[in-house]
Amino acid sequence: MSTPRFAGKVVAVTGGGAGIGRTYAHRFAAEGADIVIADVNLGAADRVVKELAADGHRALAIEMNVTDAGEVADMVAATVATLGGIDILINNAGIHLEHAQLAFTTEALPAWRNVLDVNVLGALTCAVACRPAIAARGGGAIINMSSMAAYGNGSAYAVSKLALNSLTVGLAEEFASDGIRVNGIAPGLVDSESAMAWLNDPSRAAIGPMLINGQMIRRQGRMADLANACLFLCSEEAGFITGQTLLVDGGFTKKPF
Ligand SMILES: NC(=O)c1ccc[n+]([C@@H]2O[C@H](COP(=O)([O-])OP(=O)(O)OC[C@H]3O[C@@H](n4cnc5c(N)ncnc54)[C@H](O)[C@@H]3O)[C@@H](O)[C@H]2O)c1
Repeated sequence: MSTPRFAGKVVAVTGGGAGIGRTYAHRFAAEGADIVIADVNLGAADRVVKELAADGHRALAIEMNVTDAGEVADMVAATVATLGGIDILINNAGIHLEHAQLAFTTEALPAWRNVLDVNVLGALTCAVACRPAIAARGGGAIINMSSMAAYGNGSAYAVSKLALNSLTVGLAEEFASDGIRVNGIAPGLVDSESAMAWLNDPSRAAIGPMLINGQMIRRQGRMADLANACLFLCSEEAGFITGQTLLVDGGFTKKPF
């Protein structure tokens, strides 16, 4: 039997208490990794850690807000102390759906700041905090969770995800000397619980067909599609890929550059 792809690796997943982050955690664990679930919702993080432990995996739940540099530093220290280091960081925590569709008004500016703080500076905060730990292992990988919305409509969400794509390039260049590759994944709408609850609101009945009919591959995107891309980008097979954001949207976005 061959060695699992991520045997001996430690993977930190922000926002791993639900949805896509939870799916990533299960898939990395199934391929041999130890997992840190760092989520603002400790109850959710604990539930995922219990699921992983029940399957025989080593995992740690940490309450952490990606916008709080002190909490992020504590997460790194606790992970290194408990699991021995960090090899891979998944910057997955994000504000999305109706929470990131904001008015273009003065009153909405604090909410805009919060979206940019979580979705952009949160990823930067986690990346810089994890860098020494990943470098100490001889290098590793970071994934930033973007969205196809980055190439879309100019909403607060879209602005934050396009900024995140640029941050991916900047971090990739900055961290390359430590052997750290930094890439992004830009999904279309996939079947996380939160996204499906949003989509299934009767007021949005037209959105599902509009999205699927706009795709070249006409089916609902799945969290498993993202996990396949994420594990590839973090693996040795992607060792010459950095600074890229990969669209995983069934061909919805036409981007010939
Ligand atoms: N679901 C989709 O269709 C879709 C599409 C494109 C991009 N994305 C992106 O993928 C990521 C995950 O999406 P999802 O649908 O799984 O989200 P979700 O809302 O279901 O889960 C997000 C998790 O992040 C945690 N979180 C939120 N803010 C946090 C913070 N400040 N610090 C730490 N943890 C925090 C939440 O507690 C939750 O457990 C997001 O960045 C989102 O923008 C999702």
